[in-house]
Amino acid sequence: MNGHFFVFDGMDGAGKSTALQGLAERLRGEGRAVFCTREPGGSELAEAIRECMLRDWTQGMPIQTELLLVFAARAAHLQHSVEPALARGDIVLCDRFIDSSYVYQAILGGVDSGWIDELVSHTVTQHPERYFIFDLPAEVACRRLGARGHDNRFDRIGLDRLERVRQGFAERARACPDSHLLVDAQQAPERVVDVLRQALAPHLS
Ligand code: TYD
Repeated sequence: MNGHFFVFDGMDGAGKSTALQGLAERLRGEGRAVFCTREPGGSELAEAIRECMLRDWTQGMPIQTELLLVFAARAAHLQHSVEPALARGDIVLCDRFIDSSYVYQAILGGVDSGWIDELVSHTVTQHPERYFIFDLPAEVACRRLGARGHDNRFDRIGLDRLERVRQGFAERARACPDSHLLVDAQQAPERVVDVLRQALAPHLS
């Protein structure tokens, strides 16, 4: 693989999608080929699974179904979108990845994280070089989400759950200091892009 693979993850309302787009623009301005993508989704099949996963179902969605759907989408996304982009030599910037599964399905949803380890070992064919974990106080995230409105069932998350999400991501970042960087999402958006660009420097020739 000639390209580079970076992930942006963290709590809802932290501004990771905006930062990802800002970084993509900066890199394109330097003449680099950038492929922006997201999970769940990022390929035709994976986007269809995303739609199914985020919908409100009358009978609800068992957490096991949710976990298997997210990994079904991930396998398709990696094979159909990420691997071809890396083979072309693109810089792949992905909005959310496996840390979201550990936080939302294991820590919040209660599934055994060993099951996620197992699914990762069977489906994740490409591992990102770096994970940027966006962090900010749950109250600030809650206010930002309130201002944004609710698009899907995952957006209806209260302060307590946001705090658990925050702690879950922070623990993941602490456990993997070589691959994960905790990003202070309270900084101005341009400053966040500066921090990300600096962190990418050692990876890009
Ligand atoms: P996202 O597109 O980041 O939503 P938003 O634009 O509201 O930030 O992701 C949709 C939801 O999917 C998000 O709330 C978290 C959830 N999700 C999981 O539960 N597990 C996962 O593995 C992934 C990738 C996402």
